[in-house]
Amino acid sequence: MAVQISPSILSADFARLAEAAAAVSNADWLHVDVMDNHFVPNLTLGLPVVESLLKATSLPLDCHLMIEDPDRWAPAYAEAGAGSVTVHAEAAKAPVRTLRQIRAAGARAGFALNPATAVEPYEDLLGEIDMLLLMTVEPGFGGQRFLDVVLPKIRRARALIERHGGQIWLQVDGGVAADTIERCAEAGADVFVAGNAVYGADEPARAVEELRKLAAKV
Ligand code: DX5
Ligand code: ZN
Repeated sequence: MAVQISPSILSADFARLAEAAAAVSNADWLHVDVMDNHFVPNLTLGLPVVESLLKATSLPLDCHLMIEDPDRWAPAYAEAGAGSVTVHAEAAKAPVRTLRQIRAAGARAGFALNPATAVEPYEDLLGEIDMLLLMTVEPGFGGQRFLDVVLPKIRRARALIERHGGQIWLQVDGGVAADTIERCAEAGADVFVAGNAVYGADEPARAVEELRKLAAKV
């Protein structure tokens, strides 16, 4: 499994997003948290900012939609040029259609589960998914403590993915830092979102490399 690091700009200075992207040019993705104040109790940014970011960075955008009615909004992020668009199981009403629309627009289709949402009911959907995102905090805010109650689910998700052929990426998001990333990698995650651990560091690019090394040595 190739380790990939996706720094979350939720922990960056929202008035300096282009600089925040440039500061992690050694990352694999730039994680963009779209929050609507309804699905989660926080409001961040939407399509216009994503369109500007696409012009400001050569990093592919990993758009994580924490919004109600993602069936309505997700395809536009893919059409705009996001490399990956992730919708939540708890919010999508027609996930098969929406995941297919994301792929049809040329992006990778991501499917996210909150900490209390089981992975097993979605086994039949794996063929529609390029990346499974397991939240390791309750979504809404950066800088929260990692929930190790999710670790067994990471293991079970990895086993399901292997049974399915092993092509689907397994992303973890929330509280991923130097003291938690190895447990996630050991459980089977291969794409690591990190907000505070990257943008809270003095040198974000160095933090990316340190996280990458820790995950890769597992
Ligand atoms: C939380 C977001 C995360 C957040 C992670 O709802 O989905 O992407 O930015 O931030 P940290 O790494 O600080 O927990
Ligand atoms: Zn996120």
